[in-house]
Amino acid sequence: MTTLADFIQGLPKIELHLHIEGTLEPELLFKLAERNNIQLKYDSVDELKQAYKFSNLQEFLDLYYEGANVLREEQDFYDLTWAYLLKCKDEHVVRTEIFFDPQTHTDRGILFATVINGINRALQDGREKLAISSELILCFLRHLDEQSAFNTLKEALDYKDLIVGVGLDSSEKGNPPSKFERVFAKAREEGFLTVAHAGEEGPAANVKDSIDLLKVFRIDHGIAAINDEFLIADLVQKQIPLTVCPLSNLALKAVNNLKDHPLKKLMDHGVLVTINSDDPAYFGGYMNENFRASAEALNLSKADLCQLVRNAVMASLLPEQEKERHYHAIEQYCCENA
Ligand code: ADE
Ligand code: ZN
Repeated sequence: MTTLADFIQGLPKIELHLHIEGTLEPELLFKLAERNNIQLKYDSVDELKQAYKFSNLQEFLDLYYEGANVLREEQDFYDLTWAYLLKCKDEHVVRTEIFFDPQTHTDRGILFATVINGINRALQDGREKLAISSELILCFLRHLDEQSAFNTLKEALDYKDLIVGVGLDSSEKGNPPSKFERVFAKAREEGFLTVAHAGEEGPAANVKDSIDLLKVFRIDHGIAAINDEFLIADLVQKQIPLTVCPLSNLALKAVNNLKDHPLKKLMDHGVLVTINSDDPAYFGGYMNENFRASAEALNLSKADLCQLVRNAVMASLLPEQEKERHYHAIEQYCCENA
């Protein structure tokens, strides 16, 4: 008899909502600060970890942008990404579609090329040395203006072969999807797929507007959809996936208790829900811990967990033939370990 934790560890998982800057562990943050001669506000790793207590999204974002300041050289972005990929290997995450926030870096004078070349070199090594497949999605920071997003999109055009899509993150309140309607239209015209954070702290209307105005193929978070039965019906009918991040929602007080998380209710409505880690270095858990904590709080069965990883295959950007291979591996694992 395997424990649920063992079962989760062995499940071949796919991650669809992960900010690479959100994988910056305090230990690496200190190491990079030293390497780049940067004076931190904190005296020790422990002191920094003590600061990781958030009441809302904005409190987290302030620390997250401050932390990213230690990333300066291409090798820093490589080391950050490689450390995350090693974690994926450990946790049996076989595929990951990751976000990066170029404006967080270009606004500090770091070249777009420095950022993307470091991340991409690690992803390429991950494919070759760890057999982890991956894609890269550029996120626009929604607290910045439309022109800044247009400038960033222009820089991305030189890297179309490395970037599969564009997304929208940062402060949801006060920055609705409509603010980026024209940038997203241009991005689609240039051949990028689109996703957007919506319904994390904001209302269900942001989920609806991301679908209608930004033409997203996936919604990141989307938990506010639970408040709108028409939206739920639409998500089910159009099979638009939600990349849900339970430990993130708990850490940022989108839910007060994991037992109140709408993940299982959304699943039961037939929404294509997936489990992801968002910013694991800040929220206390990578994929396995998100699965484990959700299973415990929401009484998820092994069959539910298998459905969640199947959903992630369906929601992924993998080519059809690759999807079939992943479904097969999941079926085999779930049958053998039922
Ligand atoms: N950037 C990094 N993590 C984020 C989150 N959970 N919501 C919005 N923007 C983010
Ligand atoms: Zn996110």
